[in-house]
Amino acid sequence: MSLYKLFGVPFWHIKVKDTFDQQALIDEAHAIQATDKKRIVSNRGGWQSGFLEKEDCPLAWEYIRSCLEGNDGIPLRHKIDQGWLNINKEGHYNQVHTHGDGRLAAVFYVTDGMRKLGILNTLCTDQAHLQCLDEGECFYPEAEAGDLLMFPSKLPHWVEAHNEPTERISYAFNISFLEIGVDENKKLRQNTNVKHGT
Ligand SMILES: [Fe+2]
Repeated sequence: MSLYKLFGVPFWHIKVKDTFDQQALIDEAHAIQATDKKRIVSNRGGWQSGFLEKEDCPLAWEYIRSCLEGNDGIPLRHKIDQGWLNINKEGHYNQVHTHGDGRLAAVFYVTDGMRKLGILNTLCTDQAHLQCLDEGECFYPEAEAGDLLMFPSKLPHWVEAHNEPTERISYAFNISFLEIGVDENKKLRQNTNVKHGT
């Protein structure tokens, strides 16, 4: 018997850009934390802001937009639906959750991701599948400060407990695609390199 794995899970990784100013972004994050109420969603122990708009986090917003709209950004018309700030200290983690269906979940790392984000391939959550594959089909991406990751919002994901004395700071947000004509989307994709993972 042969085992084949059909299809792939799309995952985008935009690497840190020259314009990334970590200290300025850390200062902005701390300023938000000083005035914004803590929200408890998937965060356990960590601090999570309410939904943020452009005017709440102008530096982070500008950097994220430059990533999404740059040459290696998203080649389709899109918009940020909601964004929020996460600050985890030692021992803090995020429970398994999804961001709903039909869009992209994204994360921008102000500090190193420390390989704490886990993403589960939902098609392999069935116990029979797990036993056949002899693995859990979990992915722990490596992301450094300034990197931006995107993946389908329906994929369950979590953040393992932070085990460093320094803070782990990230922005999470959702991206929706805007309806436009097929021809216009084709034009936007013309200069895009689609990379196939191994
Ligand atoms: Fe999330």
